[in-house]
Amino acid sequence: MTFEHPRAASPDTALVATSPATFAPASMPEYLEKTYWWAYTHPNAVRVFERQWLVNLILWGNFSRLRDAALQELGDVIHGNVLQVACVYGNFTQHLVRRLSPQAHLNVIDVAPVQIKNLHDKLADKRQVSISQQDASELRFEDASQDAVVVFFLLHEMPVDVRHKTISEALRVTKPGGKIVFVDYHQPARRNPFRYIMVPILTLLEPFAMDLWRGNIADWLPKHLPYSRIDEHTYFGGLYQKVVVTR
Ligand SMILES: C[S@@+](CC[C@H](N)C(=O)[O-])C[C@H]1O[C@@H](n2cnc3c(N)ncnc32)[C@H](O)[C@@H]1O
Repeated sequence: MTFEHPRAASPDTALVATSPATFAPASMPEYLEKTYWWAYTHPNAVRVFERQWLVNLILWGNFSRLRDAALQELGDVIHGNVLQVACVYGNFTQHLVRRLSPQAHLNVIDVAPVQIKNLHDKLADKRQVSISQQDASELRFEDASQDAVVVFFLLHEMPVDVRHKTISEALRVTKPGGKIVFVDYHQPARRNPFRYIMVPILTLLEPFAMDLWRGNIADWLPKHLPYSRIDEHTYFGGLYQKVVVTR
């Protein structure tokens, strides 16, 4: 399997430094191997999960709505450098690519080689895209190098310390005035039956998700990286949230 060298693919995506150590493969986080091997790192995972109807079913029919809500924050036409933190099953990245202006560039990172290969296979046209193996909690992009960053259903899969670092990294690499768009689970309103239906499902399959329910993404924002505004929206009776932080 060959991975695109991120620097060679896009000279202006502002990856940090040039020492070979910078590009040593990121090691696979223990939580991912232990908890999500069946969904992301096992070679058969892609064969099972890379189906649009299945990812839509997992989100109770809300995939397109949430995808479009996230992408609309970046604009009908996206300019500059955009970073997608972690691959997403389904057509999320294809829709993002379609919005890129001719000069725009998309960086996608993921820590799992299986997912990197899958994204290479899924994208027909990669002229404006760089895909690199990186850990979201230790990004190899310079400070303020991205015009926008999107983090779609990643935070609930992370232990709280990794989540903290990932949010901090997303802010660090975003330019002043740029947006960081988080879409993820959220604790639904009391009258929403999904508040009860989802607890056993998430507890069994996604053990780090419940503390995302109990907290607020806003509470995990790093104190040392200022932002100018934060907008929060919920969907589907509160089961999902979009949090947009403007640097
Ligand atoms: C974005 S999340 C979940 C998205 C959604 N559930 C879906 O349908 O794909 C899944 C991705 O996050 C990646 N991932 C998890 N932890 C990561 C980390 N620390 N750094 C980079 N990628 C990570 C996994 O390898 C996987 O490809």
